[in-house]
Amino acid sequence: MDSPTNTVAEQITIDVHLPPGGPLSGMAADVRAGLTKPFKELSPRYFYDRRGSALFEEITDLPEYYPTRAERAILEHRSSGICAAAGDPTTLIELGSGSAVKTRVLLDALEKAGCLEAYAPVDISEQITRDTAEAIASEYGILVHGLVCDFERDLERMPLSGPRVIALLGGTIGNFEPAQRASFLARVANLLGPDDHFLLGTDLVKDRQPLEAAYNDAAGVTAAFNKNVLSVLNRELDADFDLDAFEHVAFWDAENLWVDIRLRSLARQVIEISSLGMSVAFGRGEEMRTEISTKFAREGLAGIYAEAGLEMVEWWTDAEDLFALSLARRAA
Ligand code: SAH
Ligand code: AVI
Repeated sequence: MDSPTNTVAEQITIDVHLPPGGPLSGMAADVRAGLTKPFKELSPRYFYDRRGSALFEEITDLPEYYPTRAERAILEHRSSGICAAAGDPTTLIELGSGSAVKTRVLLDALEKAGCLEAYAPVDISEQITRDTAEAIASEYGILVHGLVCDFERDLERMPLSGPRVIALLGGTIGNFEPAQRASFLARVANLLGPDDHFLLGTDLVKDRQPLEAAYNDAAGVTAAFNKNVLSVLNRELDADFDLDAFEHVAFWDAENLWVDIRLRSLARQVIEISSLGMSVAFGRGEEMRTEISTKFAREGLAGIYAEAGLEMVEWWTDAEDLFALSLARRAA
């Protein structure tokens, strides 16, 4: 526990676990693999440079993008119940914490319950993790242990003292492919001690119209967010993508239960990626996948948990059943 005389700086530890070469150092091999597939794809983890993180923040305020508001509403109504169901944990570890705006609602409830001792924001973006760590330490006067890392690769590095809640909010689990999601959740299950819980935000299956609107906003912010990945490649890999030669595409795939997010080439073109020594040809109209955003239903998620060795303890939704938070523990 910190003493009341601690300064904000004394309350904060930041561990940076990025491979030599920074957060994007694995990018070269990853991008090469993705762009040499017959159906090209890029990983959504490259969206979040400084501009990408700012564009995501803008998305969360868009009238069409309901998930952030819906999740916030659940947190506002249910946070004290969440704390109680999780056994009044002392430590909140948040994967993909970003600016942790909604997290304050949960931290407020933990503070009110008198159990809150520490918060661990975990994000691939170093600046946002440092900013969040400082803000939370000064607002709550608690220990903050920030981790700058890839939460998939470095999951086992999470701080161990508990009882803990490991949270993955915002629907970020929806951005995992099914096999990647299954192995990630199995690793989460292995991390959980008998007093620990996993708190997961999931966007829910609904009609096509609101789903497609949420990913095709009228102001074009999602399109800019999607195309920003090409700027990241231009900067980091010395590529020559012309952002105007691609258009944003997002549509509901009712079979796979995900919004499929792509970039479509508007012309036949060849892109040079100098640092990979590679030329990539795109046909006119050819699409490249940049992200999926899977939507869930309670039964399906319970099955996914069970396969990973987790068991659902509680399930909360907003008044319009748009989004859900669920609490899970390691299956007996
Ligand atoms: N939790 C916030 C932010 C969601 S955006 C919310 O609910 O609004 C997704 C966040 O996850 C971004 O901050 C991004 O930088 C981070 N992120 C994405 N992939 C990651 C990875 N592999 N490892 C660590 N952080 C990641
Ligand atoms: C971070 N993640 C949950 C967002 C989503 O809705 O899948 C990312 C996003 N992509 C386009 N808009 C928002």
